Amino acid sequence: MIAGEAGGIVLGPVPRGVRPTSDRVRESLFGALGQFFSGESVLDLYAGTGALGIEALSRGCGRATFVERDRRAVFAIRENLRRTRLESRAEIIREDVGRAVERLVREGRTYDLIFVDPPYRIADSEVENLLIRLDSLLAPGGRAVIERGRMPRGEGGLERGDARRYGGTVVTILEKREITMNLAICPGSFDPVTAGHLDVIRRAAGIFDHVVIAVGANLRKRPRLPASERARLVQKVTSHLENVSVEVMDGLLVEFARERGARVIVKGLRAVSDFESEFEQAQLNRTLYPELETVFIMSAAEHSFLSSSAVREIAAFGGDLRGLVPDEILDVVREVYSKDRTASSGEEAGS
Ligand code: PNS
Repeated sequence: MIAGEAGGIVLGPVPRGVRPTSDRVRESLFGALGQFFSGESVLDLYAGTGALGIEALSRGCGRATFVERDRRAVFAIRENLRRTRLESRAEIIREDVGRAVERLVREGRTYDLIFVDPPYRIADSEVENLLIRLDSLLAPGGRAVIERGRMPRGEGGLERGDARRYGGTVVTILEKREITMNLAICPGSFDPVTAGHLDVIRRAAGIFDHVVIAVGANLRKRPRLPASERARLVQKVTSHLENVSVEVMDGLLVEFARERGARVIVKGLRAVSDFESEFEQAQLNRTLYPELETVFIMSAAEHSFLSSSAVREIAAFGGDLRGLVPDEILDVVREVYSKDRTASSGEEAGS
């Protein structure tokens, strides 16, 4: 440990496969955060040996929660807490980070300081999804420290503070704004995502600080592709939009929004035919979650005729899809949906 009540105590051996933050990075990171604390709560995600959270406890933080899935790493955290005599102020959650974070959000837990130091093998998309949750987990004025090979894409609605590079590691500090950020959820079936969807998403991204696209998994109508595949296509066509992220939505839209602290649903509206079903959904959602507003973006005139079901039908009969779906996914859509001669059946308006 570098400083504070456990300063000078040597931590236990590092288990195989764990890459702890080097002393140099840790020292300057705490330099950037302010050297000492008084009673703040800390969340150490992908905790590894727990060195970051333990250093924060040693420097005056009140309580720390460590989340780590690896058994040997959890053993190392326990040993390090024992050596530093900080066990009584610590809680260890042995679970997958994504799942643990979902639960902490549901329980309404908040932290003043969150460390996110994912192993290199963790995909960027997982880290981005995590950044969005941080807004709900951070107490007002709280800060999150992200360690990554490169700058994380998007801030999940948080304010980007100090960012420094140390060799192959970039340490970025994100801060929670005192005012709640403008987060919108853009839900849909996206079976498949069309040029019309993309236009609405792009325009929503210009209005809100962050837009989470929620790809519905359990839909009344039966989608042709699994949600993870539909989400992958949406991700592909929105990768250039910095403040847009994509997630699969398993349950109710209102729960999805509540868990993320979102107050706005944004949907595209094409014509009178969409209105009835959209009106019904908006009213139902507002009954379930009264603070939730649904905002509609009128589709551009050139897309007012465009729907996923029309795209599926054209694909099924080998028609030309150029201009109807984004270029990057033309081939995949052509291939996947061309197998489906029942493509447009059982369909309601509004998809
Ligand atoms: O693209 P679509 O078909 O208009 O999207 C429909 C979607 C995904 C927005 C809707 O089915 C939905 O919200 N599903 C989640 C389950 C839910 O919350 N249902 C109650 C709202 S009516």
